[in-house]
Amino acid sequence: MKPAPLLLINIGQLLTLRSTQSGPRRGPSLSELNVIESGAVLCLAGKIVSVGTTKDALRDPWLKKNRKKVTEIECGSRVVLPGFVDSHTHPVFMQPRLIDFEKRIAGAGYEEIAEAGGGIRSSLDAVRKASQAALTQRVLDVFRDLAKHGTTTVEAKSGYGLSLESELKSLEAIRTAANQWPGTVVPTFLGAHVVPPEYRGRSQNYVEIVCKEMIPAVAKRKLAKFVDVFCDRGAFSEIECSRIFGAALEHGFSVRAHLGQLSSPREGFIESTLECCQPASFDHMDHVRDEEVAALAKHDTVVTFVPGANYFLGLEKYPPARRLIDSGVAVALATDYNPGTSPTISMSMVMSLACTHMKMSPAEAIAAATINGAFALGMADHKGSLEPGKDADMTVFDVRNYKEIPYWFGVNRCVQTIIGGVAST
Ligand code: NIG
Ligand code: FE
Repeated sequence: MKPAPLLLINIGQLLTLRSTQSGPRRGPSLSELNVIESGAVLCLAGKIVSVGTTKDALRDPWLKKNRKKVTEIECGSRVVLPGFVDSHTHPVFMQPRLIDFEKRIAGAGYEEIAEAGGGIRSSLDAVRKASQAALTQRVLDVFRDLAKHGTTTVEAKSGYGLSLESELKSLEAIRTAANQWPGTVVPTFLGAHVVPPEYRGRSQNYVEIVCKEMIPAVAKRKLAKFVDVFCDRGAFSEIECSRIFGAALEHGFSVRAHLGQLSSPREGFIESTLECCQPASFDHMDHVRDEEVAALAKHDTVVTFVPGANYFLGLEKYPPARRLIDSGVAVALATDYNPGTSPTISMSMVMSLACTHMKMSPAEAIAAATINGAFALGMADHKGSLEPGKDADMTVFDVRNYKEIPYWFGVNRCVQTIIGGVAST
């Protein structure tokens, strides 16, 4: 059934994120939010049909005639913006990792904990043992929570099963939860998260299984759009990542990678991967060289910052956002929601960290959390900005100025989220 027409009026600041430029926003265009004061948005059948001032909207002849049929939201001078596009999450896990949390507080490092049997590997058991229904419920709870915080599109990775059976189960859980949630879910296969314990010292064999068994099985069931690899010290090497990307591309997937979180990738790897594989995004990128920045600036691959991980690991250093933005690299922001390094679903918290610790302006943080997130998922033609023809996904924040969204950190000022033209929270 098509939703009733929906009209939002008296929006204090309507952030349209409209741009004449094609491709992801870079440099100065990252801070162009295209704000309409006293704004209004009219939606029909789940799509945006017009965006403008409340005065103009109320003069519209169609609206005058059909006002009674229209659901109206009086925004009371609050801020309305596109629903956040959280382009990097790991929602398929069963338990928080409280032992790791306390070990880190006592001074241990992320890699040290992982080597001692904590980290990603310690989340495997519970996922392998869980029923698909239990996993689905966990994922669905996360999606619902995301919407309450303003997120309407989310990328969701597998990666805590790391066997054919439990990776398929994880992706099925994402699919089933997605079917019960009105928002948009983009599934990603992350079988190459770490080498599971049963393949310790035999990473080649595991990579073989990822390429020859898992990727074809995921493709056959159409369970993912992307294949991701954690390419870093203690996870997979650049050679292994290239192999996995090769298999992924052969099977029709697009690719993305966790890169430069713990160490710099091998010299030349970023440049050659940009050329051969057109990755949708490289995520983390705490470590990046000047030559790599120059190469990234020439491509549409989005660098996705996940400062929630830096915060939660208690790191002093954050990704060098200014260097990348000022060099013309397209950047996005995402939560990296996961039990080990970033247990948050709050995009406004992530934006706050980007402002305070990475010196991104509030406007840049908003564009990175919406339109550039949509580019990082290959969905910018219908998500990430409020323009006629795009999906009517938006969120209402109880603030008067958009700069307050990253300013009031640690609280949720999202009061309503509209997904596909329907008010969902
Ligand atoms: O993005 N870096 C790899 N993956 C996650 C961590 C996952 C975990 O520790 O469970 C990340 O930070
Ligand atoms: Fe991650």
